[in-house]
Amino acid sequence: MNDMLKTTPDFTIEEAQALLAQHFALDGSLQPLDSERDQNFKVNTGDGRCYILKIVNGAEPEIESDFQTALLKHAGENAGDLPVPHLQPTLSGENLATTTRRGIVHRLRLVTWVPGTPLAQSDRSDGALHSLGRMLGRFDASLKGFMHAGALRDLDWDIRNAGRSAGRLAYVADLQDRALLQRFLDRFDERVAPRLPMLRSAVIHNDANDWNVLIDEDDHDRISGIIDFGDALYAPVIAEVAIAAAYAGLDHPDPIGAAAAIANGYHAEYPLLEEEVDLLFDLIAMRLVTSVTISASRRAHTADNPYLAISERPAWALLRKLDAMNPRFSTAILRKACGFETVAGARAVASWIVGNRKSLLPLLDRPAAAYPAALVPYGDPAHPMTVSSAAGRPHDAQSVWEEQCRRAGVELGIGPWGEARTVYSGEMFVSRLVEETRRTRHLGLDLFMAAGTQVHTPLAATVASVEIEKDPLGYGCLIALRHEPDGCPPFLTLWGHLAHEAVSRLKAGDRLEAGALVGEMGAPEENGGWAPHLHLQISTDTSLAATDILGVGEERYLDVWAELFPDASTFAGIAPEFYDRSGRPHEDIIRQRKELLLPNLSISYEKPIKFVRGEGVWLIDDRGRAYLDCFNNVCHIGHAHPAVVDALARQAGTLNTNTRYLHDNIVAYAERLTATMPKELAVAAFANSGSEANSLALRLMRAHTGKENAVVLDWAYHGTTQELIDLSAYKFRRKGGKGQKPHVHVAAVPDSYHAPAAWPLEEHGRRFAENVAELIAAMRARGEAPGFFLAESVPSVAGQVFLPDGYLKEVYRMIREAGGVCIADEVQVGFGRVGSHWWAFETQGVVPDIVTMGKPIGNGHPLAAVVTTREIAASFDNGMEYFNTFGGNPVSCAVGLAVLDVIEGEDLRRNALDIGNHLLAAFRTMQERYEVIGDVRGLGLFLGIELVSDRRTRAPATEIARAVANGARQRGVLMGTEGPHDNVLKMRPPMIFSKRDADHLIAVLEETFEAVLARAG
Ligand SMILES: Cc1ncc(COP(=O)(O)O)c(C=O)c1O
Repeated sequence: MNDMLKTTPDFTIEEAQALLAQHFALDGSLQPLDSERDQNFKVNTGDGRCYILKIVNGAEPEIESDFQTALLKHAGENAGDLPVPHLQPTLSGENLATTTRRGIVHRLRLVTWVPGTPLAQSDRSDGALHSLGRMLGRFDASLKGFMHAGALRDLDWDIRNAGRSAGRLAYVADLQDRALLQRFLDRFDERVAPRLPMLRSAVIHNDANDWNVLIDEDDHDRISGIIDFGDALYAPVIAEVAIAAAYAGLDHPDPIGAAAAIANGYHAEYPLLEEEVDLLFDLIAMRLVTSVTISASRRAHTADNPYLAISERPAWALLRKLDAMNPRFSTAILRKACGFETVAGARAVASWIVGNRKSLLPLLDRPAAAYPAALVPYGDPAHPMTVSSAAGRPHDAQSVWEEQCRRAGVELGIGPWGEARTVYSGEMFVSRLVEETRRTRHLGLDLFMAAGTQVHTPLAATVASVEIEKDPLGYGCLIALRHEPDGCPPFLTLWGHLAHEAVSRLKAGDRLEAGALVGEMGAPEENGGWAPHLHLQISTDTSLAATDILGVGEERYLDVWAELFPDASTFAGIAPEFYDRSGRPHEDIIRQRKELLLPNLSISYEKPIKFVRGEGVWLIDDRGRAYLDCFNNVCHIGHAHPAVVDALARQAGTLNTNTRYLHDNIVAYAERLTATMPKELAVAAFANSGSEANSLALRLMRAHTGKENAVVLDWAYHGTTQELIDLSAYKFRRKGGKGQKPHVHVAAVPDSYHAPAAWPLEEHGRRFAENVAELIAAMRARGEAPGFFLAESVPSVAGQVFLPDGYLKEVYRMIREAGGVCIADEVQVGFGRVGSHWWAFETQGVVPDIVTMGKPIGNGHPLAAVVTTREIAASFDNGMEYFNTFGGNPVSCAVGLAVLDVIEGEDLRRNALDIGNHLLAAFRTMQERYEVIGDVRGLGLFLGIELVSDRRTRAPATEIARAVANGARQRGVLMGTEGPHDNVLKMRPPMIFSKRDADHLIAVLEETFEAVLARAG
């Protein structure tokens, strides 16, 4: 450098003008420009052209001048449209001229002037910095393949030599400053220097400082040019971005944002690699370290050269800012700016959690979505709860919240991810990334419940850390867990504001199985001074220590935090509908139903529920509350079963026609369905509803017997057409019913629980059947005979009544002897619901002549079937064609096949039996404790609990049954009431009901009985 100073050219303007005329035949006014080691003049010719004349330092090695020249020439040839200086030939056609003064040879070069204002003198908008990145990217892209021996020079400004700064540390007087630089140097030695040789290298500009970058005077978001290739060299490509970003960050309120804008622009023109972007933060810092140490060393050697210190003060300021940042977060921002994941695997973690949400165990006692929940009002700065919390009065905040919960019937408070909050008032919430900014966006998920509420890990984990954070408004007891599920990158979960008991129970390295206790929500004295809640947060960056994980982040970088610390709602089991409430309000729907639909369209509950999604055993309402569905027996194998949805979608996307054309599905399905039945039942027909199936059964019956007389059970329901209403005492006997038709003969419900006390139990079947014998005898007395007997194999509307042994055998025998046929309505009870058998009639040891099916057959898809004998089918074949537009279409049959596959493949009949037995046992123990439970009955997952006000008289406890069904609904469990007195609790949960689901139902029933009976006194 000393040599350079001695050979710095110092030509007068007149001398320079003479050189210009001599070598370039140009005449113009010259204006000197700043230069550290050369002499530069701006040349304005009379005709409006503008150039720069450079007189090169005499000490500059020839190879460097040649390199500069070659570089300018290459740029001119390969990127003629780029706004960079373009080389002007000398009069003799050379790229350079030379002149000698005082024995020193100087080279002269003339290049075009690039118009614009130095970026240093303009504001650095994101647009300008993005444009700078693009320009540098285009420039470097134009240099691809360019090489010159001069590019391999040794420069302290070469990022690879940044470690040399260590040797200059001694020139930095302040020990703290020196320590700061040492920290960056240590990081450089440890994690950057070893990786630099592996990175892509190329010839780069290497000095895009804001004096070398020009901005368009008319558009401050556009870079108009790049000048001064004096520091160009062969170096890692990423250094280009790092250097530009280091200068752009000086005095910038958001230096990482500035770097991100440059990286984003550069990446668009010259795609960066992840491993390059991962080093960017350190390289930016090291450019500054190089700069301040060179300045310090030069100051030590050169008195008072203001140019040397030009960027020293802001460089120090920026270094201090960078030192305060977490490099992982800065790198995440930079990665995101280039379209990479904020941390490798972040997106895979988020999608794994969504994809595997059904296998996650409840974090609270019950699935979080099952609690009536509401938002905690921290998003409202003026709310008394927010105000008390921010003022450090957690008990007041808690009282406000408890009162709100009590009034609204809320059990779980939710503080959502991403919420803007004003509660974070302390110094610790000042942003380290963006000046004059606070961190306000909540990056965890808060679950508010009483202190002492236990929280469990939904997924197996290893304890990463357990600690107590003492800061006011900190976390209190804080636990970090590490999860490494198969097929998912590892991730952390952070559990804050817990009670201190966890500290003595857990330690780093402990293994927690899924469902294991993590801790308890702490009281304000233990939890950092908050109303009791859990702060749950996911970190996809597993290298962060618990206390480094940002619980609250800058709004500006919310998209970055969303990947680094994704919303834990799904992990915690909260339904998305809790946040995204769409669709028509309840009142509007109720009003429109009244206006547009039949007014007597049936609806459940005084305050109806609006469901928007079904998933397995759960129905989710429009506020995200999940209800355990123990009632709807249509979704037999669980709501939205993927196998059914898939089969339906695939066939619907391929072909749907009707039975006038050949198709595999209908015969495949008929084959599979009849295979589940006794061999006599060999012929199938398909329809669209249970009613249609029953109507078809009646046509078959008439064709075969030529008769009309019906024997049906009391309180039965068989369908919605008029002829079926006429056979349904439940309808024709009640409101709006037209009474019993002459051809309809109603037999008593063979309900053992209400049988005369004098009847021995083993005779119930025969005794009830006598009633049918009487009906037949009465017909016979009139010269008539029954055409058929129609009954559900387990009468459901009548109150989940299990037929006494031998009943159907006896009745079927009598009906057949009288010339009738026997029809089993399996619309509710078929398809393995009873567990022990495929079909409920099998439990009675009979084979019907016709079986009708509906509801569960298509798991919600409108499908129904009739299966009969060959003889009856032959009778029906009387010349009239049978056609049903939709019945047996390829889509419906595909659905039917999928349902059978799942029942068989997942052994759901066995499950129904096991879980049914578990429930029955629990109900029976309840019966011992609650007088009101008169009878518990069920088989598989077809269950009833009859409530009585007097066990001796068996008088119905209708009001209590209604209160229990409503109470269960309030607690998130759906069941119905049934029977002539509406006093039988009716449950028909999906066949996939698990032991955990059953225990949930049992717990809710217990709670409800307790509450209802306490109220009833
Ligand atoms: C036993 C029974 N049979 C037939 C039907 C009629 O079925 P769908 O409503 O599909 O026409 C029902 C409906 O509730 C039923 O419970």
